[in-house]
Amino acid sequence: MITTCIFDAYGTLFDVAAAAREVAGEPGREDFARHWPAISEKWRQKQLQYSWLRAITGDHTDFWTVTQDGLDWALEAQGLAGDNALRDRLLALYWQLSAFPEVPAMLMELKAAGMNTAILSNGSPEMLSGAVQSAGLSDVLDDVLSVESVGIFKPAPQVYDMVIQRFGCAKSHVLFVSSNGWDAGAAAGYGFETAWVNRAGDPVDRLPGRPHHELKDLTAIPALVAR
Ligand code: LAC
Repeated sequence: MITTCIFDAYGTLFDVAAAAREVAGEPGREDFARHWPAISEKWRQKQLQYSWLRAITGDHTDFWTVTQDGLDWALEAQGLAGDNALRDRLLALYWQLSAFPEVPAMLMELKAAGMNTAILSNGSPEMLSGAVQSAGLSDVLDDVLSVESVGIFKPAPQVYDMVIQRFGCAKSHVLFVSSNGWDAGAAAGYGFETAWVNRAGDPVDRLPGRPHHELKDLTAIPALVAR
C-alpha cells in the first residue's frame, strides 16, 4: 500500500527545456533559435554529468553551480560563449520553469486521497522554492527535500534515505516518480516502488534496478496508487 508519493523535480514536474524554448521565441534571438534544441540537450547532459562526477569524487557543490557550468559548456560548444545577456536570460528562466500541464491536478488528487506528497531533488532549496512558487504548487506538496541536506547528489542512497527520515514510512510504501531513467532505476534498487515517466519513448536504462511502472506522463499516478 502506497502512502507517500515522491517526485523528482527537473524533467519530471518541471519542463527543463522550457527556458531554452522560451528564449528561442524572443525577438533578436535568431542565432540561438537555430541551435536551441542542441543547446538545451547538451546543457542538461552536462549538468547531470557534473552532478554524478562530483558525487563520485566527493567534490560537492550545489546544483545551481553545475547548472551554470553545464550551460557554459553547452554555449561554448555551440559557438555562443560570450553572449552574457543570453546566458543571464536562460539562467533567470531556470528559476521559473513551467510545470507540465497535468501536474497541479495530479498533485491535488493525491492530496485529496490523503497521500503524503513531496519533491526529492538535486536542486538547491532556493532554486526549488522558486520553481515551486512560480508553478503554484506550494499547497499540494507537504515538503520539498533538497540534496543540500546530505551534501551529495543522486543517485547516492543517502539522498533516498531522506524520504524515510522525513515521512517515517517503509520503503515499500513509497512511490518514487522520475522522468530520469537512472534516477528511477536507482530508486527501485534502493527499495521504493518506482514509476518512470518516459515522455520521449527512450529505452530502459541498463542498471541493476528497473522501474516497476513506465508511464507516458503523470496523469495515471493517482490511479496507480489507488490500486
Ligand atoms: C532532480 C534532477 C535529477 O530534480 O532532475 O533531482
